[in-house]
Amino acid sequence: MSTRVLFTPHAAGDLALPNRLVLSPMTRSRALPGGLANPLAATYYAQRASAGLLISEGTQVSPQGVGYIRTPGIHSAAQAAAWAVVTEAVHAAGGRIVAQLWHVGRISHPDFHDGALPVAPSAIAGVGEVFTPEGRKALVTPRALETHEMAGIVEQFREAATQAKAAGFDGVELHGANGYLLDQFLRDGSNVRTDAYGGAIENRARLPLEVVDAVIGVWGAGRVGYKISPTASIFGMEDSDPAATFGYLADELSRRGIAYLHVAEAVAGPRLAPGPRIAPGLRSRFGGALIVNGGYDFASGEAAVASGEADFIAYGVPFLANPDLPERFRRGASLNEPDPNTFYAGEEKGYTDYPALGDASA
Ligand SMILES: Cc1cc2nc3c(=O)[nH]c(=O)nc-3n(C[C@H](O)[C@H](O)[C@H](O)COP(=O)(O)O)c2cc1C
Repeated sequence: MSTRVLFTPHAAGDLALPNRLVLSPMTRSRALPGGLANPLAATYYAQRASAGLLISEGTQVSPQGVGYIRTPGIHSAAQAAAWAVVTEAVHAAGGRIVAQLWHVGRISHPDFHDGALPVAPSAIAGVGEVFTPEGRKALVTPRALETHEMAGIVEQFREAATQAKAAGFDGVELHGANGYLLDQFLRDGSNVRTDAYGGAIENRARLPLEVVDAVIGVWGAGRVGYKISPTASIFGMEDSDPAATFGYLADELSRRGIAYLHVAEAVAGPRLAPGPRIAPGLRSRFGGALIVNGGYDFASGEAAVASGEADFIAYGVPFLANPDLPERFRRGASLNEPDPNTFYAGEEKGYTDYPALGDASA
């Protein structure tokens, strides 16, 4: 029988959260021109406000950081104003929401940059394809950032963190996972630099940690989270020693006292990572709250928190399809089926029209 620890309150830094269920960040590709959050997003997130914490979809920190069509930005006053509609709706519904700050690095395409190459730690192409305004394209070999450009990258994140504050978010999460820019710097399969930003792990972690420090300067450490996916091979990502690489990062994040470390490392489902998990080894190295993610259901989430393996569980697809996921778990109710065809398209369909238990249509 369940101990239902998922429904107990717990803090993540300065964020007092009423339960252990987190909405995992999910790109929904419905933003309006100019990278403005769609007004429908206010409904979508407010519908899910019973989560302990909502993490927004990835929001690009600059025009350079974009890599997908119809993703929202968080680098202009107009974008912050569009997000303010969302954060107000979430707060009115009793929820809390942090903005996921995102720079895709090499997972972009010249189509987004008037023909210019995307930037990355090294001129090594990711493996895979991107959707650009022109359609599906193969990833290109990016341009390696010059050493003197690093300060500008840090500034992009600082500015985005400032705009996130203006937008009324409760904090920010740095997107250091899934093969995007911060992950590209950290892992040695994508970073072969020979300056102070490459080589030893202390160097590969330099830019990510400079970004962390800049964002802490805006928000305070207690409202900053960091997401990693230490064993994900997405877009051809690899590292020769993930336990050491991510262990070092966890130590440094812990030393800075950030609110939470969010580890995407699937325990079941289509993203199930082969080989040993990294998350359990990070538990003792990181002093803040630990969020785990990937393939969890009610039982496995409850077990992970009850055993002390993690403090929170981020649910992605189950929360996408069930706006009232906490209530369904509480009652042991059945779940709506997710519709993958509307994950990245469909406007209201597959976005704001999944029924809650009490709905007439449920
Ligand atoms: C439609 C979709 C969009 C996603 N977009 C993001 C994103 O913007 N940022 C991110 O960190 N992860 C993103 N992810 C990954 C999820 O946050 C999560 O790590 C993944 O779905 C595994 O959790 P789950 O098994 O509970 O769904 C996305 C996943 C899906 C299905």
